[in-house]
Amino acid sequence: MQKIVVLSGAGISAESGISTFRNNNGLWENHKIEEVATPEAWEVNKDLVLDFYNQRRKQLFEVEPNDAHKALVRLEEEFNVHIITQNVDDLHERAGSSHVMHLHGELKKVRSTLDSGLIYDLEGWELKVGDTCEKGSQLRPHIVWFGEEVPNISLASEIVSSADCLIVVGTSLNVYPAAGLLNEVRPNIPIYLIDPFDVDTSYIRDFRIIKANAGDGLTRLVNELLENNKK
Ligand code: OAD
Repeated sequence: MQKIVVLSGAGISAESGISTFRNNNGLWENHKIEEVATPEAWEVNKDLVLDFYNQRRKQLFEVEPNDAHKALVRLEEEFNVHIITQNVDDLHERAGSSHVMHLHGELKKVRSTLDSGLIYDLEGWELKVGDTCEKGSQLRPHIVWFGEEVPNISLASEIVSSADCLIVVGTSLNVYPAAGLLNEVRPNIPIYLIDPFDVDTSYIRDFRIIKANAGDGLTRLVNELLENNKK
């Protein structure tokens, strides 16, 4: 069975109603995202950082997977599909995809600031100052902040380097090391890029661009890949 690897970003969840980072000028209530999603911001203003993630987590209870997430589930009928997502939402899982790796963490999880191995599913949407782990330390969002290491990047590189096909969808490819994963693809492996807007692709070798929203673009591409596989 051929292995198809998908690198997804905020754009795949846009049609579910979750706004992307950079199409919104990268601002949240006049704060730059990079100023909220950092260890420094956490040190200075925990309430602000928690509020940012609480709002995003709360929104997760109001949104549903869209056609793009669902198309990737159908792809599993004929292919070994591995999704590497920069998203912290759980829409790939809720759609039913089997192999989903989160590069930048998961909104619905929290972890201890004392022991990073203590990771919990959060009940509800709100994490507050004073909420602690079993060892008594403050809990933080289970998110990879700017300036922090990306624990899953080596595993992600391995997955990409064994792909027979790569689909890149809904990411501006602005953030490293995630964007660097495209350099791990073996030569002659087809790369598809789905995005309705212009993305800087100057450093990507041969690829096919599908200039469309994720829902429409992925539905068409998945139909085509399933059809061609039957021939
Ligand atoms: P960005 O907001 O940087 O990029 C979103 C991409 O989705 C852009 O290229 C848009 O053109 C595209 N897009 C918008 N609407 C779309 C639609 N309906 N269908 C398909 N594509 C659409 O988001 P990411 O590249 O995911 O990191 O951002 C990467 C990381 O930067 C995030 O994981 C986050 C952020 O800061 C952390 O929080 C650590």
